[in-house]
Amino acid sequence: MKTTLSFSTPAEIETESLVAIALDHSEKDQSEKTATASKPAESGKKEKPQLKLATGDGAVQSVAADLLASGELTGRPFETNLLHKPAGLKAKRLLLISGGAAKKFTSYDLRRVAGTAVRTLKSRGIRSFAFIAPPSIPAEEAVRAIVEGALVGNFDPDYYRSDRKDQKIDALTIVAGGNADHGALEKAAQGAQIVGESQNFTRDLVNEPSNRMTPTILGDRAKKMCQEVGLKCEVYGADKIKELKMGAFWSVAQGSDEPPALIVMTYEPSGAPAKPVLGLVGKGITFDTGGISIKPADGMEKMKYDMAGGATMIGAMRAIAMLKPKVKVIGIVCATENMPSGKAQKPGDVQIAMSGKSIEIINTDAEGRLVLADGLFYARQLGCTHLVDAATLTGAVVIALGYTNAGVFANDDAMYERFHKSNDEAGEKMWRLPLDDEYKDNIKSTIADIVNSGGRWGGAINAAMFLKEFAEDTPWIHLDIAGTAWMEEQKPWIAKGPSGIALRSLVEFVKSFAS
Ligand code: BES
Ligand code: MN
Ligand code: ZN
Repeated sequence: MKTTLSFSTPAEIETESLVAIALDHSEKDQSEKTATASKPAESGKKEKPQLKLATGDGAVQSVAADLLASGELTGRPFETNLLHKPAGLKAKRLLLISGGAAKKFTSYDLRRVAGTAVRTLKSRGIRSFAFIAPPSIPAEEAVRAIVEGALVGNFDPDYYRSDRKDQKIDALTIVAGGNADHGALEKAAQGAQIVGESQNFTRDLVNEPSNRMTPTILGDRAKKMCQEVGLKCEVYGADKIKELKMGAFWSVAQGSDEPPALIVMTYEPSGAPAKPVLGLVGKGITFDTGGISIKPADGMEKMKYDMAGGATMIGAMRAIAMLKPKVKVIGIVCATENMPSGKAQKPGDVQIAMSGKSIEIINTDAEGRLVLADGLFYARQLGCTHLVDAATLTGAVVIALGYTNAGVFANDDAMYERFHKSNDEAGEKMWRLPLDDEYKDNIKSTIADIVNSGGRWGGAINAAMFLKEFAEDTPWIHLDIAGTAWMEEQKPWIAKGPSGIALRSLVEFVKSFAS
């Protein structure tokens, strides 16, 4: 999708479709109303939405005026209406999308409205449109949200369907406000384009099933990407993993006939200070059967996305290489299958991690933390001063936070605050969970230093406590994306399937370290 900025008046733009946002200016928030609230409004109460377009263009407003005043619209977020041959506009169509309550409308919502525009129009065979940036949001922030949201909406996962339509929007024009700095807006659009495309690159990797995305293939894809954007990339196999004494990583890999891959991507821009060195470590389980502690058959097919954390780091490195912030970054992905076999590790086995810590394996299905233990330690050995890991680590984080928020853990409050800010700017939802010392009791072992499974209660925290043992005193953030890396249902702004969560926050976070 190509993006261009236009500073013309909306009415003058020749396009397949102009898109404008309708916001509700009534006191009451329509989205809070129940279905029964559709009965006639009681007198005196402001029940009906008061819809106004988020544009100062009189010609566009007058086209929509009758519809907005008709009382036919609910004003709830993502309600769409398409008008043909709008009088007085050069556009062939005018698409109106509700953005919900005006006073609550932020760039978070704008991303979703832009995605909705893409998905509404591309399914009708339309390939290009012009989106009017809402004046209530600062222009740079708006441009960025529109580009990122549109790219997210443009992705569809139906790769292997014979009837794949491969419908895509090819060209987006953003109609930006008059008095903004054009250069700054162009720069915002270019940056957002890189980030949005990298997010879709990650979703591409995550979408592939395990027979088409083995650790070797993931390594090849990383290498190819690194070559294209000028990153250094090493992909190591079993020999190197054993040589490095990555006993925790290898304990998972040993059960599979597919060779593992340790992917190391290095970004060292000239002019970057020696420190900090950021380490991005991803869980790359290309399929998680559970191993000998095998998972039930029901839903196991979803475990092809257990490499989403790793794919996120590969996509993030792509974006970083293209955006060129002046800060050193190393991306590490520990990729392997988790399989049951005659060579697989068994519950009760004791493994020695690269750091020297001994681990009693209670459950071979708690494999993500094993590969990350060595990934995090290796990152520190390579000189990383700050660590972030991303992993589809626990079912328990889905119990805690559902499909809406990813779990965030940190061993350092300053690091957390910085990440939280980046997270906000990127428009992704995450929620911090605790790491109190009390939880450490849950991972005590009688035979070894720690166990790999702390049981059911506080399962996401137990997993994070395990990782903390390997981050030690290095400032570290852990993202548990098990509930958010895969959309269980399609939404107006995004397809069902891989979401690409965390990439935007990570890129923003890395940028925050560049002077
Ligand atoms: N990959 C799973 C976690 C997962 C669950 C990801 C649901 C995506 C959706 C992870 O390896 C796992 O199996 N975790 C176990 C840990 C337990 C054995 C301590 C879990 O959450 O049940
Ligand atoms: Mn598992
Ligand atoms: Zn797993």
